[in-house]
Amino acid sequence: MNIFLLLSLLLLPIFFLLTRRGKPLKRVPPGSLGIPILGQSLGLLRAMRTNTAEKWMAERAKRYGPISKMSLFGKPTVFIYGQAANKFVFTSDGSKLSNQQTDSVRMILGDRCLLELSGEDHKRVRNALSSFLKPDSLKNYVGKIEDEVMRHLEMHWQGKQKVTVLPLMKTLTFNIICSLLFGLERGARRDAFVEYFQQMIEGMWSIPINMPFTRFNRSLKASAKVQKMLRDLICEKRSELEKGAPPHQDLITCLLSIRGNDNNELVSEDEIIHNVMLIMVAGHDTSSVLITFIIRLLANDKTILEAVLKEQEEIRNSKLSRELLTWEDLGKMKYTWRVAMETLRTTPPIFGGFRKTVEDIEYEGYLIPKGWQIFWVTSMTHMDGDIFPEPSKFDPDRFGNAAAIPPYCFVPFGGGPRICPGYEFAKIETLVTIHPLITHFTWKLCCKDDSFRRDPMPVPTQGLPVQLVSKKLL
Ligand code: HEM
Repeated sequence: MNIFLLLSLLLLPIFFLLTRRGKPLKRVPPGSLGIPILGQSLGLLRAMRTNTAEKWMAERAKRYGPISKMSLFGKPTVFIYGQAANKFVFTSDGSKLSNQQTDSVRMILGDRCLLELSGEDHKRVRNALSSFLKPDSLKNYVGKIEDEVMRHLEMHWQGKQKVTVLPLMKTLTFNIICSLLFGLERGARRDAFVEYFQQMIEGMWSIPINMPFTRFNRSLKASAKVQKMLRDLICEKRSELEKGAPPHQDLITCLLSIRGNDNNELVSEDEIIHNVMLIMVAGHDTSSVLITFIIRLLANDKTILEAVLKEQEEIRNSKLSRELLTWEDLGKMKYTWRVAMETLRTTPPIFGGFRKTVEDIEYEGYLIPKGWQIFWVTSMTHMDGDIFPEPSKFDPDRFGNAAAIPPYCFVPFGGGPRICPGYEFAKIETLVTIHPLITHFTWKLCCKDDSFRRDPMPVPTQGLPVQLVSKKLL
């Protein structure tokens, strides 16, 4: 046989192995997938618990560069970071990247919540939620939120010498969501709801094996009870609407009142229930962490405390005693919101997130195979000295001109079509809570150990106990 023919026959399989449709195959990114199933999960979780996750990620980046592979939570994962990487994650459409949640989250929150939806369904449900969560609509509820805050402070802060901030802030943000978004007023029903809800979230980050007496099993049962209560609530809201109740009194009523071209409800009952559960989880944990870390900062930094106090007292002095805050007042709280933004930069409540590749993807010269996870991490751009000079310094004035911050670099709320729809809601809650706190109380940290761990949200040592002094009655 001709030697060239023989060589071609021998090399043909190798050619097919190395190419796909004639194109040379790219390499997958550098790094190791680690031990099967466990991969690097334990290392990352350990780093989160000891508050060294940022260092853990930075060491990886130093070793492998801006793109590397690992294995997290049983799945091959590519970690990418930087402005271009954030843009790629946040703006890629559903044909390239889809949202990626753990099985336990999907089974507990349901398969019609925003995290599970894509394309036109995602747009339809998100637009419906945003019609209530947009500033034009929320500005009418500043007084109602303040009402919840004042009641909370009277019950849990006034007259107390010591309080633990994080659990109290969770109670407060949960109550605000119950009253404003679900129209669920105080009473036995709300108390039962809180109890089931707590059980429900306890199993959200557990291994999804549904065996009796496991956390996950308890969580699934609680989720079924929460869903049943929401179904009853929807029934009541629907009949109130039919009797002429205003469509914008709460989020559920608002969603029920939105009609499609055929005059049917645009958002199905399952979609309302699953998204209400998502909002309970996404909305109360995150804002409570932000407010807690602002309170911690104000105890540690006298100069910033004085500047925030000055701004808030000017607003208080411009109002009659007990006069409620307005949307215009919030617009004057510019410095306080800069402090909140800098808190979100230095301690983002959401560490990062996952997407999944829908097809083989080429990124920065590497192949990311179909079905792999992509892991984006908030702090990698937030702590980049080229974007935020002296990144470890707490400096609210960085946000004096927010437009000067390059796009996709400050991402505590994500970006693109899945950017957090609760941004304005979180802003109102934060400003309305800080106002009476700083004008009525002073506080000192009780714990000598002023550090925190991630669980996966940042949790200050012992939940941040503070010693409290009331300056004047509420
Ligand atoms: C400080 C407070 C908050 C922070 C830092 C925060 C952060 C985030 C982040 C990082 C995402 C993921 C974006 C992505 O994957 O691209 C997200 C999504 C989401 N957030 Fe927030 N959030 C906060 C408050 C809220 C509030 C108050 C609500 C509701 C009232 C809310 C509702 C949601 C929902 C429904 C999603 C899913 C959006 C989608 O997939 O289209 N969040 N949030």
